[in-house]
Amino acid sequence: MSTELWRQDVMKLQTYVPGKSIEEVKKQFGLSEITRLASNENPYGPSPKAVAAMQAAAAESHLYPESTSAELRAMLGEQYGVDSAQILISNGADNVLMLIGQAYINAGDEVVYCVPTFPVYRTSTVMMGAVPVEIPLTGDHKFDLDRILGSINERTKLVYICNPNNPTGTIVGDGELESFLRKVPSHVVVVLDEAYVEFVELRDYRKGIEFIKKGYNVISVHTFSKLYGLAAARIGYAIAPPEVLAPLLAVREPFPVSRMAVAAAIASLEDTEYRDFILASNRDGLKYLQREMTALGFDVPDSYSNFLFADTKREAAPIVESLLRAGFIVRPCKGWGYPNHIRVTVGSPEQNERFIAALAEIVTGQA
Ligand SMILES: Cc1ncc(COP(=O)(O)O)c(C=O)c1O
Repeated sequence: MSTELWRQDVMKLQTYVPGKSIEEVKKQFGLSEITRLASNENPYGPSPKAVAAMQAAAAESHLYPESTSAELRAMLGEQYGVDSAQILISNGADNVLMLIGQAYINAGDEVVYCVPTFPVYRTSTVMMGAVPVEIPLTGDHKFDLDRILGSINERTKLVYICNPNNPTGTIVGDGELESFLRKVPSHVVVVLDEAYVEFVELRDYRKGIEFIKKGYNVISVHTFSKLYGLAAARIGYAIAPPEVLAPLLAVREPFPVSRMAVAAAIASLEDTEYRDFILASNRDGLKYLQREMTALGFDVPDSYSNFLFADTKREAAPIVESLLRAGFIVRPCKGWGYPNHIRVTVGSPEQNERFIAALAEIVTGQA
């Protein structure tokens, strides 16, 4: 069958190419152990309580899940101090982002965001027949809110702000964000992708929820994939003022999330001890990796996430290749227009130490 039958906007899309899988690298290099520091996954896995909850829920797999994940929404509503009707649970933050596109974008609309950033903003924009307006990050790798404002016109429908930004780990100041939101016209919805926001531990930093409570046209997008280690369970959510959330509810699937995923999310929220352990380990890991990579001559800006964006100061591809041979997968950034950078996810202390030892050997060998 030729592509003539395809919807035209679909022809503009490129099939998602994931990073190398652990199985692929094992086979390619004949290795038995691989450490993946490439996908911003939680190195410890889910809370054991979440695993037990998934096992128990699996026995009820013949029953459709409750359609709106009411119990989980109630928990999140309490945690954030909003009505649970302001929360939509779906099949991963990816899916929430696609729903936002389906709910809001008309063909010919413009959608503004900075690059490099999370690629799904572009996919959903192009898929809906809209025009992506891509603005470079600032020199210090932050979303350029002034230039975004300058690009908004009567055709603009959505603005995406990835905060913290993937792949750079940077954030915009909360004061800056509020003065930006005050200037955004009312026909524009601002999507704050906060997939990594739990890792922002700056005192008094105001996250998306505060701006939603103030009534701005904001949708805040979250995931259980990162802090809670549930990337394979596929569960994420959106919070927004009721009238902003309404069209997402209209386009959502009837049963978007499995019983196992919902049970795991609830157990994860309850296990605050495990969450605090993950946060503390990430905090230490960020400091350690930043210090050690800096000592190796890399330029490594502060990150407010669970990964670091490191300028290796040379073409990164040979380093990435040598790391693969040594059993470490990191993310090359050439596809984002940064051939000298790598993105490294924070691992466990033991993984971080082994990674730095391997990297030091590679870098000193190259010198
Ligand atoms: C910024 C950002 N948003 C959304 C997602 C998607 O998260 P999920 O696993 O819930 O689909 C990711 C995953 O890497 C991400 O980095």
